[in-house]
Amino acid sequence: MTQTRVPPSAPAPVLAIDGPSGSGKGTISQLLAQRLGWHYLDSGALYRLVALAALQHGVALDDAAGLGALAAGLDARFSSDPAQPDKVYLEGVEVSAALRSEQCSNNASRVAALPEVRAALLQRQRAFRKAPGLVADGRDMGTVIFPDAALKIFLTATPEERACRRYKQLKDKGLDAKMNDLVKDIAERDARDSARAAAPLKPAPDAVALDTTGMSIEAVVERIQALLRKK
Ligand code: C5P
Repeated sequence: MTQTRVPPSAPAPVLAIDGPSGSGKGTISQLLAQRLGWHYLDSGALYRLVALAALQHGVALDDAAGLGALAAGLDARFSSDPAQPDKVYLEGVEVSAALRSEQCSNNASRVAALPEVRAALLQRQRAFRKAPGLVADGRDMGTVIFPDAALKIFLTATPEERACRRYKQLKDKGLDAKMNDLVKDIAERDARDSARAAAPLKPAPDAVALDTTGMSIEAVVERIQALLRKK
């Protein structure tokens, strides 16, 4: 008797977009996901949600085991409406604005340094990979979460430009921001994200580095789409 082997179907393609805060990752990844009709993973939001949940449940930011447990049981939901990719719910309550505060950004980078938290969020991130494809935005998408991504981009921009973008973003959302504080916060966060032992911020060896300083969003998106077409 001959057996017919059914070839395993190829996993959905991933476009991994990594880089430091303010490099334009979020805006560019969301636009690309919309244009390609692909799913979108905002992995930073998961670390922000853990930080917010810790604050709400009184878990200390140095309690690695407590934070790991919180991350493992995180009751989070992302909007499936492509027109509102930023809408996020924690335990049923919309927390989109609270997630973007500077306090939450700083606390997120602290909890993200803990291997317990990263391990607890690993499968949750991989579960976003579905047909027809996924645009994954973060710090370790190409290095740890999706090492087989079809295309890996590492976005950068000068620290000054990144602080300016963050300032504008926060002001547009009606949030309070001071330029000097932002420059300092961004430098501190970059240092912590790059120096940590667990999944530090660094380009994958096969990533394409793109410096977006002075580039329009449209130009960056077009460049990435052109790279993707060549794959
Ligand atoms: O990208 P975003 O600024 O929302 O990320 C918030 C924080 O979460 C980052 O400063 C970083 O410390 C952490 N992060 C991470 N790994 C990711 C995404 C975000 O460590 N893949």
